[in-house]
Amino acid sequence: MVSNRKRSIIMPPQPFVAAAHINDPMVYQQDAVDFWAARAAELSWTTPPKQTLSGEMPNCTWFSGGTLNASYNCLDRHLKTHRKNKAAIIFEGEHGDTRVYTYKDLHREVCRFANVLKQMGANRSEYITIFMPMIPDTVIAMLACARLGVPHNVIFGGFSAQALLERINDAGSKILITCDGAYRKGRIFPVIENVNQALESENTIETVIIVDRIKGEPPLVYGRDHLYRSLRSNVAFDCPPVDVKAEDPLFLLYVSGPDGAPKGVLHSTGGYLTGVGATHKYVFDIEEDDVYWCTADVGWISGHSYGVYGPLLNGATIFMYEGAPDYPDKTRCWKLIENHGITIMYTTPTLIRSFIKWGEEFPQKHDLSSLRLLGSVGEPISSDSWLWFYDVVGKGLCPIVDTWWQTETGMIMLTTLPAVSPMKPGSTGKPFPGTMLEIFDEKGKTVTEGQGVLTITQPWPSMPLGLLHDDGGLYEKTYWKRWKNRTAYYTGDGARIDKDGYIWVGGRIDDVLNISGHRLGISEVENCLTKHEAVAEAACVGIPHDIKGQVLVAFIVLKDGYFATRSLIETLRSLVAEKIGAIAQISEVIFTAELPKTQTGKTVRRLLQAVAEGKDDVGDLSILANPGALDSLRQFLPRSL
Ligand code: WT7
Repeated sequence: MVSNRKRSIIMPPQPFVAAAHINDPMVYQQDAVDFWAARAAELSWTTPPKQTLSGEMPNCTWFSGGTLNASYNCLDRHLKTHRKNKAAIIFEGEHGDTRVYTYKDLHREVCRFANVLKQMGANRSEYITIFMPMIPDTVIAMLACARLGVPHNVIFGGFSAQALLERINDAGSKILITCDGAYRKGRIFPVIENVNQALESENTIETVIIVDRIKGEPPLVYGRDHLYRSLRSNVAFDCPPVDVKAEDPLFLLYVSGPDGAPKGVLHSTGGYLTGVGATHKYVFDIEEDDVYWCTADVGWISGHSYGVYGPLLNGATIFMYEGAPDYPDKTRCWKLIENHGITIMYTTPTLIRSFIKWGEEFPQKHDLSSLRLLGSVGEPISSDSWLWFYDVVGKGLCPIVDTWWQTETGMIMLTTLPAVSPMKPGSTGKPFPGTMLEIFDEKGKTVTEGQGVLTITQPWPSMPLGLLHDDGGLYEKTYWKRWKNRTAYYTGDGARIDKDGYIWVGGRIDDVLNISGHRLGISEVENCLTKHEAVAEAACVGIPHDIKGQVLVAFIVLKDGYFATRSLIETLRSLVAEKIGAIAQISEVIFTAELPKTQTGKTVRRLLQAVAEGKDDVGDLSILANPGALDSLRQFLPRSL
């Protein structure tokens, strides 16, 4: 066996290349605008676009003059082909219950849901909030919104009642689609109870549509709550798709930013679908008989772009799983692959690290020979994890695509093309054809080899329309005004470019954490902690964690008269979990008399970081305005200080 250190470049496996339908390196040579015009032409437009790209960054318009409908592109146009009776979704619930929707079935269900939404007064100037687990009904609800040209606002099902409420009100949603419960780790996850708790506070919701998942009998608020199964039986099976402009919003999706409050990112219809359809086709080399599994929850952008829209645009078969990867035991994922003949698995480094920890014996017990391609997204993957995935899961026969992108980019921006590019374990490869990403130094100069900030320097079709309620130019300021001399998109990620032009993403350089592949703004957690009456000041840092990538450590300064107790720690922990959700778990709380500050009052996070990580090297401390803070942190610091 070759040692891992020597395996720094891996060629795409020959059998894969021979069978691939996208294997021409010339794809990298095409003019970007021509490339995207050709990709847009693969969609069905009711009016073809007049111009591919107009305007200057960041105010570009893609496909102006064009009109189309997203659900028509995902469903109706396949009904005219052999795909009519092809499986669009194969679903397995946590208990092993399965459901299959052909394209025809999915079309009918989407039409019925859309007719229900129409009946409930769905309006194109509003956002419909969807708070649902990983079940086909969630996809149906999203596509039903798209059919009517009403943008959806999917909230990740694991978010707390408070997080849901905040996002509902920010979007001003009047209609909420949810369900009675979900199965998770053998128990019932109380989706509807979270909803009811959220709606106890002041909110904008007028109508709640409750889908049946657990055969529950949820208490209904008269005039507000409706059981979907009753509504569904009274509507027609067909619903004409509403024509929308290319630049009309398809959806809103909230993301945690560095400055606290979650922000609603708006994505377009024409540009987004063009970008997502093409990247899905090229990056996953989609073939007609693929069974494609994106493990990401539909509540995140990965679930939107590569769990729903990308695969359906390409007429692919989506595999969807409701539950936990280790329920009832650690063979579950491998059993799913074997039983459903899954050919492509797109997952996250955090899950791969769990697989590694659980052990090779679990994948080895199952026949994984249906797999032909593997993908990773959400955070940097170490070369060891990469090689484990390649050897143990892919048996050395499946290329791995390590795809870098963001909620804001909407589509994959950095990746290798599986039948074209050599792979370097741990590198995300090069910009996708038709896109341009560069590494900038602090002054905004391009670094041709070395370290810097990952930056997007050319417009891409799924660029965001902007942020919701952005009167003050927050979108431009946050993403486009980082460098004085150049207008380019700031990603917030540090990265290195090597001599071959391959990019190695290091991780966030702003105050955003990446916990299990999910983004969490540090100040969102801090703002929540300082709401507690005992807390005078709070500062959080992320420290490395074997499985989750990063976990939170909170430094707390108490108000006079309050004392550090075990029960206070628990209260603070649950406060954050309640406000944000289970992803925001605080692993350690450290009480200190003062936070280390600079003269201008900025917390010196570097020092807190060193304390949290137990590092000896705390760097230069001469900038501290209150060296006294060191006294209270001293017990955590090396003796030499
Ligand atoms: C941030 C975006 C894109 C869907 C899931 C996350 C990190 C994403 C990679 C990768 C290294 C990655 C970045 C990015 N990230 N993919 N392949 N290698 N880092 O979406 O919540 O918007 O987070 O995830 O830090 O900025 P998101």
